[in-house]
Amino acid sequence: IPVEPFDFVVFGGTGDLAVRKLLPALYLRDRDGELPPDTRIIAASRAGLDTSGYRDKVRGELGRFVPEHALDQETLQRFRARLDYASIDFADGTDWAELTTRLSDKSGKIRVFYLACAPALFGPICAQLAEHDLVDADSRVVLEKPIGHSLESARAINDAVGAVFEESQIFRIDHYLGKESVQNLLVTRFANTFLEPLWNSSWIDNIQITVSESLGVGARGDYYDGSGALRDMLQNHLLQMLCLVAMEPPTYVDRETVRDEKLKVLLALQPMTPKDVKRNTVAGQYVPGLSDGVAVPGYKEEVENPDSRTETFVAVKAEVRNWRWAGVPFYLRTGKRMERRLSEIIIEFKPVPHPMFPDSEGGGEPNKLVIQLQPNEGMRLQMTAKQPGPGGIRLRPVALDLSYTEAFAQPSPDAYERLLMDVVRGNPTLFMRRDEVEAAWAWVEPILSGWKQSERGPRKYAAGTNGPTDATTLIERDGRTWHEGA
Ligand code: BG6
Repeated sequence: IPVEPFDFVVFGGTGDLAVRKLLPALYLRDRDGELPPDTRIIAASRAGLDTSGYRDKVRGELGRFVPEHALDQETLQRFRARLDYASIDFADGTDWAELTTRLSDKSGKIRVFYLACAPALFGPICAQLAEHDLVDADSRVVLEKPIGHSLESARAINDAVGAVFEESQIFRIDHYLGKESVQNLLVTRFANTFLEPLWNSSWIDNIQITVSESLGVGARGDYYDGSGALRDMLQNHLLQMLCLVAMEPPTYVDRETVRDEKLKVLLALQPMTPKDVKRNTVAGQYVPGLSDGVAVPGYKEEVENPDSRTETFVAVKAEVRNWRWAGVPFYLRTGKRMERRLSEIIIEFKPVPHPMFPDSEGGGEPNKLVIQLQPNEGMRLQMTAKQPGPGGIRLRPVALDLSYTEAFAQPSPDAYERLLMDVVRGNPTLFMRRDEVEAAWAWVEPILSGWKQSERGPRKYAAGTNGPTDATTLIERDGRTWHEGA
């Protein structure tokens, strides 16, 4: 469905996020006919290019980040003509003439300002946008995560942005919310009859959320070394998924109801005391190892900071203090340079109340619902079945398997495709509200300060493994194990 014409201004338009995600997503929407003819994409950047240089650069990058079958000449030409470049030093008010000129036509188009730059620049950029009279009632601003690096800085950013834009114009993006499998979580839970009655502490033993990446920090070392896995992934992506798993059903789905319910979950998270931080959290950092059989450097070498204490792995045991979830642990973990790329949510059910087949081999595996986000989107329900054969009853775990690609015979769009169009449409349902972001910071802050005060830095793990041994201990001392994929 085509959207209204818009001007899409990307601050940081030559950066990693713009070339890897934003421009490919806009290109693919253009290819599907969703962008009206006079839609423009304007890169605001300090890279010292001009429009033609930028267009050439983007053409090259699209070749790397858009599937080859989607690169057709007609769309490429149309998309190229939409691209524009404005050289600018964001925070310096003297340098805005080029951008202001580019935006001078008053045709009533929607303006999207995408801030794909350091969070410290969000406030100053918004102030300059207001100063140069570039914001009107049809403008929207998109803030990339992490919003700040602490509760205090997040509040300051939210205040500064909120001084220029209404909350309904502010889109705090968490691209995990745009993933098909994450959106499908709500449908799975609330559009099927048989799951919801079991979705509570009477039937569920524990919940695990794992996002493991096999890549290291690569070229993003500058950002990452000041951030770490807790701020980069857990404060946003993992907590958002936890919210969708744990929230109560809203009466209907709209821009506020889902976010209201997610907020209640964040507020119900058991706050971490210093003792909890020691016992229920693990920070890790990778050292040299083998990734897919290839020797790779450790984190410190990669970011060229021999003293870095930044965590590239985090595991946390969390609790949601409410009626539905009392006593059910939520184990969360995420890391870079782990054994493989795998993102999963595991709902592990309690054992049957009475083991009827005590002598059988292979029994005892609990039912699990495995929601896989990456590498392939799908869902698996692990059941117990009788192994065929005449020799008595032998139990075996088997899976009811749903692959999205097979079931729907079409690949899922990238999360950014969906989310960018939602911004243009003005639909914030899949974006984080101010109170959510701040509640998430409030919960992770004691973990950050606990780690900071600790003498020990993050635990080492070899690149290509599944994190430090302390993360295994974290769950095994409860008599459970991490689910390690199919
Ligand atoms: C980003 C993080 O938000 O998510 C990156 O900043 C991380 O560090 C990325 O690699 C993971 O996203 P995805 O969609 O590839 O799982």
